[in-house]
Amino acid sequence: MINGHTQLYGIIGDPVEHSLSPAMHNAAFQALGINAVYLAMRPMHLQEGFHGLRSLGFVGVSVTVPFKVAVMEWLDTVDPVAKAIGAVNTLHFQPALDGSITCHGYNTDWLGANRALAEAIDLTGSTILILGAGGAARAIGFGLRQEGARILLTNRSEAIGRRLADELQACFIPPAAIADVRADALVNATSVGMQPHDGAIPIAPDLLDRFTVVMDIVYAPLETRLLKEAATRGCHTIDGLRMLLHQGAAQFRLWTGLEPPAEVMRTALVNAFHARCA
Ligand code: ATR
Repeated sequence: MINGHTQLYGIIGDPVEHSLSPAMHNAAFQALGINAVYLAMRPMHLQEGFHGLRSLGFVGVSVTVPFKVAVMEWLDTVDPVAKAIGAVNTLHFQPALDGSITCHGYNTDWLGANRALAEAIDLTGSTILILGAGGAARAIGFGLRQEGARILLTNRSEAIGRRLADELQACFIPPAAIADVRADALVNATSVGMQPHDGAIPIAPDLLDRFTVVMDIVYAPLETRLLKEAATRGCHTIDGLRMLLHQGAAQFRLWTGLEPPAEVMRTALVNAFHARCA
């Protein structure tokens, strides 16, 4: 029940009304009997909104597109991996000794991707091919580097792909050379295959049997064409909601210090996803 003691959490983004995170985090609070609420918020003015969150006593806030870089300016500390990625998706407001409220920024996108992949393979020493070189590929790449995976990266725009590959100390694979690659896992970090373009696939289906595991960050549809084609070729597949789940679980752990109820969160995510599509 919401009352005078209810702790405030939420997500800022634009647009934000279709976010699945409120369903996931509120289900987790409820399952653990925590008096807290998680809201979706679209700030009219980001800086004012950020300071508003701080002064109104918010505890934890997720940050999504397009604010992941801009909010970094006002943080008291930024986690080193988030700094390397250049984006934060998690804010944690904490009281300082002098009574002021400090704000600490983290990135759990990479943790979500690592955790989702680690359910299927041992990342250390594995070879992973990342498709894409945008913000998602960047977070996933830095995360895999933390785990000691060998990273291969390809991208439609070669110059952009090479730049990110250099930063990650990864090997850039020109799109024309993908046919020569074999790897433990393939991660689609592009938006290819997302509704309404569900028929699209970011790699030729015939090449999928070179990978043991295939993960897609796209979760609408839940079973993308990439995952369907991969499953028919015997690959272990990981859908985009697993990464979303694990990045949310990492946020929950950070904010509450408690072990998140992962199954409850996954069910809430899937239900919210289907309700959104209905
Ligand atoms: P995000 O921050 O969510 O990762 P982004 O920065 O727009 O999004 O990155 C999108 C990625 O998907 C890029 O790697 C992009 O390739 P380009 O660098 O060539 O633009 C890739 N992408 C998007 N649409 C694509 C398509 N139709 N075919 C191949 N790659 C595509």
